Amino acid sequence: MSAFGAVDVRVERISASRLPSFDLGASVFGSEMSDHMLVADFARGAWGEARIVPHGPMPLVPGISALQYGLSVFEGMKAHRSPSGEVLLFRPELNAQRLVRSAERLALPPLPPERFLAWLRALLDIDAAWVPPGDRGALYIRPCLFSIDASIRVKPAEACRFVMFTFPFANYYSASIDVYATERYVRAFPGGTGDIKPAGNYAAALLAEREAAAAGCQSALWLDGLTRTQVEECGVMNVFFVIDGQVFTPPLGGTILPGVTRDSVITLLRDQGVTVHEVALSIEEVARAFDRGALEECFGTGTAATVSHIRRIRWRDRDFILPPVEQRRIAPKVKESLVAIMTGKARDPHEWVVRL
Ligand code: COI
Repeated sequence: MSAFGAVDVRVERISASRLPSFDLGASVFGSEMSDHMLVADFARGAWGEARIVPHGPMPLVPGISALQYGLSVFEGMKAHRSPSGEVLLFRPELNAQRLVRSAERLALPPLPPERFLAWLRALLDIDAAWVPPGDRGALYIRPCLFSIDASIRVKPAEACRFVMFTFPFANYYSASIDVYATERYVRAFPGGTGDIKPAGNYAAALLAEREAAAAGCQSALWLDGLTRTQVEECGVMNVFFVIDGQVFTPPLGGTILPGVTRDSVITLLRDQGVTVHEVALSIEEVARAFDRGALEECFGTGTAATVSHIRRIRWRDRDFILPPVEQRRIAPKVKESLVAIMTGKARDPHEWVVRL
């Protein structure tokens, strides 16, 4: 038993690490996991002790309401390695807080942020060797919390499991992407779950991704659920447009995920003297900006995707093809600043980085 902060964690180590056979360059995002995972259960009103065990299958009965009714929420985080070899986390407290909000929205028992952070440190401590060198990507961290109540009655969860596992990856998108503005499918509605991270949000997005693929695109561009005119997000990312040298991104307000990368990019852009408007923007306005030659850039932000450039927007029968990335002035620069902070290569003026 080892103590991390105030929290005890029982550790069962893997007999032989899989790391020597792991090929970072060849691995598909999320296809191969690091050696260990952390598991903890909530029952009778309290969180039990956490166990760090070799990553692998967990027996669960088929009636659990995570499977039956989607009582499941998750987070996405990254750990980077600094030039001097330290393991760095980026604003982990924001993920801990968002996991609480996600859990509360689905009537799941929230995991207190300080416990979340202590467990995160414990897991990373064991699998620190899996964090790739700073120029070769990051360790992706996937915490998830779901109901293990075997109750077919629809009701708030009484028994829950928290699981956290990790894997190294180089990038989510290897190049700029094309996006398809869907008027058929919707990601979020006012009063719904668009501003948190339940598993179901991502399941409900899959047909839109398929629709996008049929149009030769890698991702959906989401419009609002009521009028299908306002741009909201892009695939698994928050979305930004550069028009006439100023940046526009939809405001938070219930249907937009408050992304950690979104918030950090807005802050860094403002630090760089760029004007950022958090305002509603319609796809018609995007089209008009394109027509007058003012649509300079479009990009998405997210933990996995960091800052991903958008090459083409398809809307109805129109294609808005954006300038090549080499000609863009805003997104490449903010991405470079963000990654430099995350990887410990630049000053961290907002004290976002947490050393393990
Ligand atoms: C992330 O960017 O970390 C997310 O949670 C999106 C995911 C579905 C890849």
